[in-house]
Amino acid sequence: MLPDQQFLRIPGPTPIPPSVQHAMSQPMIGHRDQETKDLLHSIKPKLKPVFGTNQDVLMIAGSGTAGLETAVTNAVQPGDEVMVIVTGAFGDRFAQICTEHDISTHRYDVEWGEAVAPQTIEEHLKKHPHIKAVFATLCETSTGVLNPVKELSRVIRRHSDALFIVDGVSAVGGVDVKMDEWEIDILITGSQKAMMLPPGLTFAAVSERAWEVIENNNRPSFYFDLAKHRNQLDNDSTPFTPALSLLFGLSQALELIEQEGLEAVFSRHRQLMNMTRAAFKALGIPLLTSDKDASTTVTAMKPDDFDPDALRKVLKNEFNLTVAGGQKHLKGSIFRIGHMGYCSPADILQTISMIEVALNKIGKSVELGKGISAAQEIMLSGGS
Ligand SMILES: Cc1ncc(COP(=O)(O)O)c(C=O)c1O
Repeated sequence: MLPDQQFLRIPGPTPIPPSVQHAMSQPMIGHRDQETKDLLHSIKPKLKPVFGTNQDVLMIAGSGTAGLETAVTNAVQPGDEVMVIVTGAFGDRFAQICTEHDISTHRYDVEWGEAVAPQTIEEHLKKHPHIKAVFATLCETSTGVLNPVKELSRVIRRHSDALFIVDGVSAVGGVDVKMDEWEIDILITGSQKAMMLPPGLTFAAVSERAWEVIENNNRPSFYFDLAKHRNQLDNDSTPFTPALSLLFGLSQALELIEQEGLEAVFSRHRQLMNMTRAAFKALGIPLLTSDKDASTTVTAMKPDDFDPDALRKVLKNEFNLTVAGGQKHLKGSIFRIGHMGYCSPADILQTISMIEVALNKIGKSVELGKGISAAQEIMLSGGS
């Protein structure tokens, strides 16, 4: 094992493209100088298609959770009623944030590993006619589920005036999301997932409808006041010192997305998902989610005859390959592979090959190459 060679295949943070790494090492500039204005000015139009919106996308220094909490505190007030669709650990986090802020939170819990069936929320919406917002997670990173956000939005619009607020943290940049067309009111993501950057930036796109609510919300907020961020961004500026190095990196990451083409980026992610799923199916290792519910950015396996943490240990100690374990009650029973952002089919082949060796090392005998060839078949057929 080379001491400085790492293979990072968790669902965020994800590997950084060398050109993005290089861009982030640029010397610092004055955050009130023209260079910063030019940088923000050039980033703004390139972010919009990634979110599927015509709105400017706000960039705030903070992790993804800062973005989630910002959405909550800007769009709803203590005492308001909201509904949170919980399909895993990150839906649960959205619900916790609401509860912490004294918001009356109606949870809609779905079995972990499954996506929410949009029509099933109808009853819940009718039962709680005063709901001000519905919160959902696009890709539930803890299970590898992609929730049908477009269809959810239709159901919400039909039965309520609630804002629709979506956590897109492990999806935006890798999953085709059309914020405006699907009538999402606030869409949040973080930098360290499909956006190919280190952690530290959160992004928020806000619909006209949501701006009206936010402008009439008089609850106190200083740093995370979205209107303040919007007003400054209108002038290619930020209210506080921006995370400049991350913005240098973002500019280059968006350049890479543009070069590859957004459609090609999404189709690469579908291929990565298909390769990963085909490999584990061929190896006889059960997947946590159905093909229908699967996310193109992360895949979870739920083995029934070996300890996933024993596998992770061998991968880490012997090959320097990091894959993720389970969260909350799935701890110890699943392992997860992140395949978003700077990830290619070759990375998946490499990952599967190391896993095949490690499985044999922990006593789970699998035929070497069986998973790899299933993944190669997907590559060969185009597979997206
Ligand atoms: C779907 C989702 N939401 C929210 C978060 C929280 O982001 P952060 O850890 O950057 O605060 C994560 C992080 O894994 C996530 O995957």
